[in-house]
Amino acid sequence: CGIIGCVGREDAAEPILSGLENLEYRGYDSAGVAVRNGSGLDTCKRAGEISALRDTIRAGLASGPVGIGHTRWSTHGAPTDANAHPHADCTGDVAVVHNGIIENHADLRADLEARGHEFRSETDTEVVPHLIEERLADGLHPAAALRDVLDVLEGSYALAVIVADSDELYAARRGSPLLLGIGDGAAYVASDAPAFLDATDRAVFLHDGDVATLSADGYVVTDGDGAVVERPERTIEWAPEDARKEGYDHYMLKEIHEQPHALERTLQGRLDAEAGTPTLDFPPGAFADAERVHLVGCGTSNYAAEYGATLLRRWGVEAQALLASEYTGAAPRVDGDTLVVAVTQSGETADTLSALRFAAERGARTLAVTNVVGSTAARECDDAMFIRAGPEIGVAASKTFSSQVASLVLLAATLVRDGEGAPGEEVRDTLRALADLPDQVATVLDGTTARSVAERYAGRESYFFIGRGLAYPVAMEGALKFKEISYEHAEGFPAGELKHGPLALVTEHTPVIAVFAGRHDEKTLNNVQEVQARGAPVIAVAGERADAVRRQADETLAVPDTHPNLAGLLANVQLQLVAYHVSKLLDRAIDKPRNLAKSVTVE
Ligand code: G6P
Repeated sequence: CGIIGCVGREDAAEPILSGLENLEYRGYDSAGVAVRNGSGLDTCKRAGEISALRDTIRAGLASGPVGIGHTRWSTHGAPTDANAHPHADCTGDVAVVHNGIIENHADLRADLEARGHEFRSETDTEVVPHLIEERLADGLHPAAALRDVLDVLEGSYALAVIVADSDELYAARRGSPLLLGIGDGAAYVASDAPAFLDATDRAVFLHDGDVATLSADGYVVTDGDGAVVERPERTIEWAPEDARKEGYDHYMLKEIHEQPHALERTLQGRLDAEAGTPTLDFPPGAFADAERVHLVGCGTSNYAAEYGATLLRRWGVEAQALLASEYTGAAPRVDGDTLVVAVTQSGETADTLSALRFAAERGARTLAVTNVVGSTAARECDDAMFIRAGPEIGVAASKTFSSQVASLVLLAATLVRDGEGAPGEEVRDTLRALADLPDQVATVLDGTTARSVAERYAGRESYFFIGRGLAYPVAMEGALKFKEISYEHAEGFPAGELKHGPLALVTEHTPVIAVFAGRHDEKTLNNVQEVQARGAPVIAVAGERADAVRRQADETLAVPDTHPNLAGLLANVQLQLVAYHVSKLLDRAIDKPRNLAKSVTVE
């Protein structure tokens, strides 16, 4: 979900509605805004997408200098007008927007109802305005009332609150991201910076437990007891236009095309290309104590983690990629000798944060590989490495996968440096090749024929993606991308496993996309022949010099030749484009696939 609040502008509804539009990728099944109209609060909220709701919402609101808004992705209660935020108390004098989950809401609600409060929605959030209402009635100042309410809430929240007789805005966070935007004579609060980047690039990241009071004159942050705390102001370097489509039909296509630039940023200053050595900010020996590495993540980040783990094992480091959502239930040995690397674009995925906390409690050293500075994962981990991909608005990850993998290649080389044996020639060759990757991705983007492949194969029954070694996580990611945005059935398999079961599904109606990374290609070619014998058309993604592959496959999407440890990253760009063009032909909601959210902050 997305939160935006504004104080100090003549007509707060306008920046709030634009903020909501910029935040829509956070969740989009309903939206609402509340503003102070001078004598009370106006609230207007509806189920549906913000772009379709803008005019209705605007018409339902007076113009006033303080307001809050929200876009929702349902976790509690169906996406209805009543369940949309903001939520109000009985008097209508308190309005609240919330991200996260109030775990003890059922008990709180029962108590409130026993005291005569009437509820209008099924949400967990609605207890908050009612609890604030009681404290205001006791004569507490709104900020003190909010702090007092936080003491009884269990669970996670980012909250923004306005009340009828105050021209201040109140905000609090625990376990869900929230930051302030500081403008001239105006202040903002938001779950993500793009919500206010049009107005200001000065931001203050709130920490868990912080309560902020914002007014036209500035802001104050306190802890839960009301003691003032200092939080540094940072400049957000993402330009507002970064968060827009820039002429592409979809954010996803824009983000696919941003990969050369994103990768340049990922690598900048972190690599001595001539020597083939990493120059990350970790001093020599920084990881000397790590006996084993666990990489945890979800979705695309899990496949990036799988890529990193496979490379680490190749280079002699004991490493495993583990799904974050399964980690706490069945983690392998994790202790003070374990380095746990959380791979997470947003840094806010609940499953990943749980895995991290589980590992930290057992004494593991933790490292976040994330795109979001100031994210929970970045702050909670012992160390953070930022992938620097820039904002990603398409719900389906594209450029962030490339930047995650490139970051993990650098990290892997750093771990090898700190391990027992000296880094071999393969590590150095890989890092030398890594420096060329941004240009090679640009070459793929310029020369791709993914669109004509998509035209030939759109609308088939199922799509299978296969690869082995480092091409395996790429095949898995290719299938995930394809199903996420096309809604067509797609599965990834290790190439060698196909014959052990999935082959039963293969027919002339099921194209097989085979990823070749330049290692054990002859074995994958055997698997290609197995599916061709069942009539399946084969689309190969392979290096320019892979003549045998080209001769065997029905179609080949070529990528420049590179080190086999990196070829999968180039192949992945072709897979992204095939998924994109098939989805476009099928007229899918590419940037906002049904049922999916960019950042999933529930377990
Ligand atoms: C959600 C998104 C996926 C993403 C996953 C992990 O499920 O829809 O695209 O890969 O979360 O997100 P993270 O921010 O932790 O990388």
